[in-house]
This record gives sequence, C-alpha cells and structure tokens, in this order.
Amino acid sequence: MSFDANAHRDASLQGWEEAAPGWVRRQGILRELGAPVSHWMIDALRLHPGQRVLELAAGLGETGMLAAELVAPMGGVIISDQAEGMLEGARARAAELGLSNVEFQVLGAEWIDLPVASVDAVICRWGYMLMADPAAALRETRRVLRPGGRLALAVWDAIEHNPWAQLPSQELGGRGLVPSSPGAQPAPGPFALGDREQVAGLLEEAGFAEIEVQPMDVWRRHDSFEELWDVTLDLSRSFHDAVLSRPEQEVEQIRASLAERFAPFTSAGGTLQVPGRTLLAAATA
Ligand SMILES: C[S@@+](CC[C@H](N)C(=O)[O-])C[C@H]1O[C@@H](n2cnc3c(N)ncnc32)[C@H](O)[C@@H]1O
Repeated sequence: MSFDANAHRDASLQGWEEAAPGWVRRQGILRELGAPVSHWMIDALRLHPGQRVLELAAGLGETGMLAAELVAPMGGVIISDQAEGMLEGARARAAELGLSNVEFQVLGAEWIDLPVASVDAVICRWGYMLMADPAAALRETRRVLRPGGRLALAVWDAIEHNPWAQLPSQELGGRGLVPSSPGAQPAPGPFALGDREQVAGLLEEAGFAEIEVQPMDVWRRHDSFEELWDVTLDLSRSFHDAVLSRPEQEVEQIRASLAERFAPFTSAGGTLQVPGRTLLAAATA
C-alpha cells in the first residue's frame, strides 16, 4: 500500500495532541535525556544577542528556551509546533522560567507561515523524521532563514542503536501488534532519517552549505523497569495504543517479557541505563 501523506499528517497531529499531557508529566526526564543534544545544537547556531530564532516541532520548547537566554534582551524566539497541547506545556514552562522574549505559534513545518528570510536561526530537535515530507520542511526552513542563517537539528540514528525503542518494537512486532520491521515501512517515524548520508543529502538538496552531521550517545536513565514502562506509556503514543488495546492478561505478559529484555541494562546500583544514539546536524542557509 502506498504512503498516504495527508492521512499521516492528520494522524500525527491527533497523536501528538493526545501525547502532550504525558510529555508535560515527563518533562523532567525529557530534559535530562535531551540536555546534551540541545547544548550541541545551541552551540552550532552561534547565536548572539538581538537575533530572532525559530524552533520547529518544538514540543515543550526546551531547546528554544535555552536560545532565548542567548539572544535576550532585544532578540527573541518563536517556539512553534503543530500541536496546541504541546505549546500549552511550553507556555507554562516559559512562565516558570520567567522568560519574556519567547512567543508561541502553531506552525506546520512543511509550510511555515512566516515570510522569506525572517529568522536568523532555526532549531529542530527530533522533529524532521516524523514529517510526511522532510525534504519540503527543509526547503521551507531554508526559505525562512536569512542568507547565512544557521540551522541545527537532531534526528534519531537507526533503531539498532536505540534499544530503548528497539526492544518494545521487537516485543510488539513479535506479537503482531505493530509492523515488526520499521525499515520496511516507507512511512515517517522516529528512525526514518537514521542515516548520516541521508541527512547530509537532504540538507544539500534543500540548498544548505557548511553541512556537518555527527552521532551522539544519549542515555535513558530510570530508577526501575516500572518507571521505564510508565514513562514509555506516557511518551510513545504508538506503544500506549498498541499495549492498552490488549486484554489485561496480555498487557501483563508484555510487561514481564519487556522487563526481561531490559534486564541486561540494569546497573550495579539497580537502576536502568539504556543507551541511545542521535544524529546531530548543522548547516548554513
Ligand atoms: C518527538 S517530539 C519532539 C519535541 C521536542 N522538539 C523535543 O525534542 O522534546 C516531536 C514533535 O514534533 C511535532 N511535529 C511533528 N510533525 C510536525 C510538523 N509537520 N509540523 C510541526 N510540528 C510537527 C509534534 O507535534 C511533536 O510535538
């Protein structure tokens, strides 16, 4: 069956609106996981006071808020996402931090509703690979950047480098609850851009220069398997929907089997430390 881009867009919007409350609940864990990634991206943007920054697919706006401090007081950040629920969470966080130079806008990244050359920098952490047409989103990104403006992005590396996702995917795939091989899916998803050459090629096709792409190891740290289970239900809508559609007894079987699969990642202190790997890219418009 061929990929239906519009059906994907509708399902993505609905899924992320539904996921937003879980992301707000788990923002502490997300912040810890994503901090080194965000810091790399912020450095790559080479920001200075007075600049105007756009964060795309921002979720709770974690990275954009780091940028806001660097471009203050005259510069500012537009924190944008397709999902209003995510932006609600981002607004609450910005208020908590007392940030006054951030604004919030519902924006689809494939058709960015901003003028040509209107921003100095664009940030997008873990967004492009989820989009129906990442090439279009990157062309749009370049259109809204002023010539010489900077882009920094992160996408997940291939699923085999990300057991935090691969093990649940194998468990659910083995039970026929999700497609077992994400590689066989033409559709967008967390691992759809997990290849350095592919990312560099897309940036080049979109007209970017000074392209660099590199991997970074990240860690999911949890006090226990129970915490990992609960967090995964909160953060992954596909896992949540596949698991909770099953009878209670099967849910318990899935949980027990996953606990065994994750057991090798138990540290000496009894906590879980599950590795992952992201790709980081930066380029100039
Ligand atoms: C994996 S979350 C990442 C959120 C945040 N950037 C972070 O790193 O924590 C993906 C986000 O991308 C947004 N998103 C997906 N496709 C989008 C699109 N085409 N346009 C705008 N936002 C999109 C979702 O609504 C969701 O908030």
